[in-house]
Amino acid sequence: MNQDIIQQIREKNDIVDIVGERIPLVARGKNFFGVCPFHDDSNPSLCVSREKQIYTCFSCHATGNVFTFLMNYEHKEFPEVVKELGDRVGILVSSVSSRKTNNKYNDWYQIYDLANKYYQNNLMTSAGKSAREYLQNRGITASLIKEFELGWSLEERSPLTDLLVKKGYSYDLLNQVGLSANDYDIFHQRLMFPLHDLSGKVIGFSGRIIRDSDQNKYLNTKETDLFKKGKLLYHYHIAKDAARIKKCVLIMEGFMDIIRASSIDVKNTVATMGTALTRDHVQDIKRLSNTIILCFDGDEAGEKATLSAGELFLENGIETKVIRLPREDDPDSYILHYGKDSFLRLIEQAEYYSDYKIKALRSHVNFDSSEEKANYIHQVLEQMVKIEDPIRLEIVLKDLAKNYEIGYNTLEKSFQELKAKQGKKQEIVPRKQTTSEKEDKYTKASEAILYYMIYHPWVISETEKAHLVFPNEIYRQLENEIVFFYHQNGSFSIADFYTYLASKEELLTVLSRILMREDLAEDPSKEELFDHFQVMMQYCDRQKAKKIQKKLEEYADPLEQARIAQEIVQLRIGENKNGRRD
Ligand code: GTP
Ligand code: MN
Repeated sequence: MNQDIIQQIREKNDIVDIVGERIPLVARGKNFFGVCPFHDDSNPSLCVSREKQIYTCFSCHATGNVFTFLMNYEHKEFPEVVKELGDRVGILVSSVSSRKTNNKYNDWYQIYDLANKYYQNNLMTSAGKSAREYLQNRGITASLIKEFELGWSLEERSPLTDLLVKKGYSYDLLNQVGLSANDYDIFHQRLMFPLHDLSGKVIGFSGRIIRDSDQNKYLNTKETDLFKKGKLLYHYHIAKDAARIKKCVLIMEGFMDIIRASSIDVKNTVATMGTALTRDHVQDIKRLSNTIILCFDGDEAGEKATLSAGELFLENGIETKVIRLPREDDPDSYILHYGKDSFLRLIEQAEYYSDYKIKALRSHVNFDSSEEKANYIHQVLEQMVKIEDPIRLEIVLKDLAKNYEIGYNTLEKSFQELKAKQGKKQEIVPRKQTTSEKEDKYTKASEAILYYMIYHPWVISETEKAHLVFPNEIYRQLENEIVFFYHQNGSFSIADFYTYLASKEELLTVLSRILMREDLAEDPSKEELFDHFQVMMQYCDRQKAKKIQKKLEEYADPLEQARIAQEIVQLRIGENKNGRRD
């Protein structure tokens, strides 16, 4: 791809916008902060700089420019991201030479894709008649069938396996990807739901029986490197965009719930594979929106799931909202019975998880017993400790005070005590890089010089002239790259430098650390710069002296020894001139 175009696209897509559209950012000083999506966190450790057009996480050290952000965040390849950002600003990227990386899984994706088309086609043939009737009876229209790529697997022993073998895939591979076992098809006479990864590629299937039978209702492809049941979120790839628009995301239990919701144009939904929510799920859901609404079945299992998911999100620093349906309903049946408007109202009126929990706790309390009442109030306070919003806190405390005729101050005091007991909350302000206990002066000088080279190109030529030798390999590499990049482009843009370094992770980490230094002057004078040079030269001289000393020890000839000793003295004199001795 043309480097100029890539650069233009990067310049026109402000990183603050691109990141900000995906995770909430708060301005602080010159920079913007948000919760880093690349590690498990609830503190705003991610720093996004408009000036530098880069992001850096203080905690996990993830770093890069607008391209790397989208690649990592949306699990996409570089060409795809460039094209997308190009589209966004009206720059056409012609040949997205989707660099066929020798991705080990390319074959797998192709196989799943073929199988998906094959199942969908079956549904439309005479063999799919009963399945079509089943869907019709449940009110699943042709357009929903198409939207969810529903399919049908045949009764025969190995029609799909045979087809794929004819296309050149080995039995071995088909067994590996989980579509065959012992060279026979896995799925027979099941309604097929393709499962997509976060970016929308098919990575497996779930098949539902449609007749009464003693078989399991659903059968999934086995777990593989690509498909992990405890990670997968059904419909995530569609919910991504919908959640951004609707500013919330709903979590449901079943595929059918998701499909039904889509029929009334509620597409900001995801479901697990019938399992409890995991931390991995929470990480991925967190990225979709700030407002997460649990919308599980109305039965007791749904209630239990609501409570445990609500707590799990709280542990991750997020208070969800909750919709509770009538006992006999799931979202699917609720929407069928009560219609779109009714369901939209439920979304509108979803209550905070802790309010729901407080109510749930209340239902078992006998308020005639002062002991039970006090116990209840303590439980409520314990719940409130997990919530960070001071306004909500005050509302709940006032309600409690009013409803149970307890002085507000008494409640407040108990609350504060409880909070203190549960240990101080983590600090919200990102911890500064602990400028390591007494960083050595060569490191400091090296980083200062590299920092200035990046911000002030005149420093690059000064550094070249001085023939500095940096004290470690990684600084030397970084220096080489800076010099090379500068000469290649005739100027220096930090964000483009990130594109250039994209594959060199170690250098990127060091680069980001250097760029985040706050102890260096914005605009150094020549003297300041030369002070740093002197420290470095002193280092060079020391290295040379050390080398020569070693040589000295190797030579037996006294004349030669004397000559070398003289050389060392000269260097020492230079060292004294160059910098203070330590
Ligand atoms: P309907 O009964 O058609 O409404 O299906 P549903 O998708 O709403 O399923 P249900 O509410 O019974 O279960 C919720 C989710 O749990 C399903 O979507 C599946 O992902 C999963 N699940 C349900 N039953 C089974 C099963 O027998 N085996 C497996 N592996 N998963 C199941
Ligand atoms: Mn269901």
